[in-house]
Amino acid sequence: MQGIPVVLDVDTGVDDACALLLAALHPCLDLRAVTCVGGNAPLVDVVRNTLTVLELVGRTDVPVGVGATRPLLEDPVDARHVHGSDGMADLGLPPPALEPDPRIAVELLRETVESSAAEGRPVTLVPLAPMTNIALFARLHPSAFGKLGRVVFMGGGANISNATAAAEFNVFHDPEAAAVVLDACAVHEVPVTMYGLDVFYEPKVTDAQVQRLRAVDTAPAQLAAALISFHHRRFASDGATIGDAGAVAMLLAPDAVRTERRPVRVELSGTWTRGRTIVDTRDWSGDMAHDPHGLSPAMVDVALEINGPWVADLWLRTVGGEQW
Ligand code: BDR
Ligand code: CA
Repeated sequence: MQGIPVVLDVDTGVDDACALLLAALHPCLDLRAVTCVGGNAPLVDVVRNTLTVLELVGRTDVPVGVGATRPLLEDPVDARHVHGSDGMADLGLPPPALEPDPRIAVELLRETVESSAAEGRPVTLVPLAPMTNIALFARLHPSAFGKLGRVVFMGGGANISNATAAAEFNVFHDPEAAAVVLDACAVHEVPVTMYGLDVFYEPKVTDAQVQRLRAVDTAPAQLAAALISFHHRRFASDGATIGDAGAVAMLLAPDAVRTERRPVRVELSGTWTRGRTIVDTRDWSGDMAHDPHGLSPAMVDVALEINGPWVADLWLRTVGGEQW
């Protein structure tokens, strides 16, 4: 069986690493490329962390494209207070021998999306970071963007935020990019799913599960255990989310997530609300029809509920392999 062709855009990142593990190892996914963007850590750290994960799990065949160092308009910020000073849990791993692809992220995206479409197997693009690379791709290569099969992004939230009281980190970090991507999806009729904070924290791995992973003598299991354990310690909690990995899991287990198709906009101004995703949850067409703003052209499948334990188990079974 051929897996779903996927490309991940990452700012690795503890939970991006969890997502890379799932995408690299699950037999029903065909990981065709990974692109990197500054976000959780500066780009140089993100690229090294991404290459480290792929090398450790033996996926040196996957090309890694280097992308944007900074957002379109905002100053760069990072989230090293969440992910560690090296961006990936400060595990002290040796630098990878694997090198990035010579193609920059936008070119790697274009070539991968076009060649997959030519095979009749369009790419599912999974942005797990500020969407700077994806916005540049949409504007530089609109015809290639239109050949995407689907976009499933981690970002935003209907009711929950983290970077500010109003906004989620990935969208807040580059709101213009997120708005461009939603616009491009609407224009090119690319189906788009938002895996946001309403579901992001639910698939959790416990300390007991980490101890079980530690007993599995493989590189992916050891790395997975170290990543989750870092977050247990950092947040003094017995349960850590697999975060971005949930968006990848959604491709494999669509029934584990309840979505609603809703108009979504990104707030680009607003003193305290910049970067918020405005999910239109009104249910009376009369209100919607008389809205002076008109409806957002971007209709997004917004993830609102998830079977967290089931999704966490899917991740554990994949990273734990046959010994799990
Ligand atoms: C998002 O922000 C980053 O810190 C995580 O990697 C995730 O993509 C959650 O808001
Ligand atoms: Ca991320």
